[in-house]
Amino acid sequence: FHVTWDTVAAEKGGYEHFMIKEIHEQPKAIKDTLTSRISEDGQRVVLNEVSLTKEQMKEIDRIHIIACGTSWHAGIVGKAAIEQLTRVPVDVEIASEYRYSDPIITDKTLVIVISQSGETADTLAAMREAKRLGCARVLAITNVVGSTIAREADDVIITWAGPEISVASTKAYSTQLIALYLFACYFAQERETEGAKEVPEILNALKNLPAQAEKVLQTAPAIEAFARAYADKEDAFFIGRGLDYAVSLEGALKLKEISYIHAEAYAAGELKHGTLALIIEGVPVIALATQDHLYEKMISNIVEVKARGAYVLALAWQGDQEIGKTVDQVITIPRTLPFLAPVLAVIPLQLLAYYASVARGNDVDKPRNLAKSVTVE
Ligand code: G6P
Repeated sequence: FHVTWDTVAAEKGGYEHFMIKEIHEQPKAIKDTLTSRISEDGQRVVLNEVSLTKEQMKEIDRIHIIACGTSWHAGIVGKAAIEQLTRVPVDVEIASEYRYSDPIITDKTLVIVISQSGETADTLAAMREAKRLGCARVLAITNVVGSTIAREADDVIITWAGPEISVASTKAYSTQLIALYLFACYFAQERETEGAKEVPEILNALKNLPAQAEKVLQTAPAIEAFARAYADKEDAFFIGRGLDYAVSLEGALKLKEISYIHAEAYAAGELKHGTLALIIEGVPVIALATQDHLYEKMISNIVEVKARGAYVLALAWQGDQEIGKTVDQVITIPRTLPFLAPVLAVIPLQLLAYYASVARGNDVDKPRNLAKSVTVE
């Protein structure tokens, strides 16, 4: 009797790839990132790891969020969250650009760096540059305790996603979103802004996300069928408005990284200024429609691509009776605040990239030319 013990297979816990395992770990990762950061009465954010005082937070008049890749996409959602709740202007910068852009920094600028690994060379260099230029403070959001970025930052919010092995980032992104929402709420609460009144409702909705993410994972078979049917395409488009556009950017990146299908994310209202020329018969378009205040506008944009023959897969709220009349296929996610939709909306897009990569026979966890942590500039 002989047992072969394959440690890699064991680490994958029965899943075929790390990526799909990590996608499925998101409900737990979200829960772990929230745990102990919401007061027992559900009214306040508790971020003991952030040593910025109330007074220091009130002094901040501008925020720079700096990151690369998927972490940069999380930053775009973070900007919307912070600006909505505090009205403090936020710039989101690509680290490799920021360094050389002669950034405008004062002692009232808070710098937030986001990095799963905490070791990305460009992000680290940008952070050091911001410090050299005299920013007020650096807050790092990272998944690795003791990483270089965590050690050099003034304050650190750890995302409790656990080790992420697959090169394509999934659970790190969703937990970065959670950390950013928590920080946005905290910043509003400490600054006593008008938006702070929304904090208890947001915290309540955040607590429901793990169970809702679990439900979204059940869309996997439908997404897999769509991915198989369209795996031989060379182009795909992701469209959305507002926060849906931010999530579209991440969906397109995921698809490019591991399926090698050219994918482009477009702010749906901007389509008519160029990209619409590329929409021809049979081109897959993934249309996100979770932002209620932009819903009608989004439907008009979907009609524009349908009229050119696109095959449209829409991502909408459960109970949406309308969108099915306009698109070819609908994937639904359980209702949360539109403000928090990115956490749930990204999951079907991660699944789409995964199944497209599998269908094309690619090395899902180790895509060509890419590395998990880029420690060179
Ligand atoms: C690499 C990875 C990406 C990641 C980016 C930033 O390019 O392949 O998945 O988003 O680095 O990494 P970081 O560890 O700083 O979040």
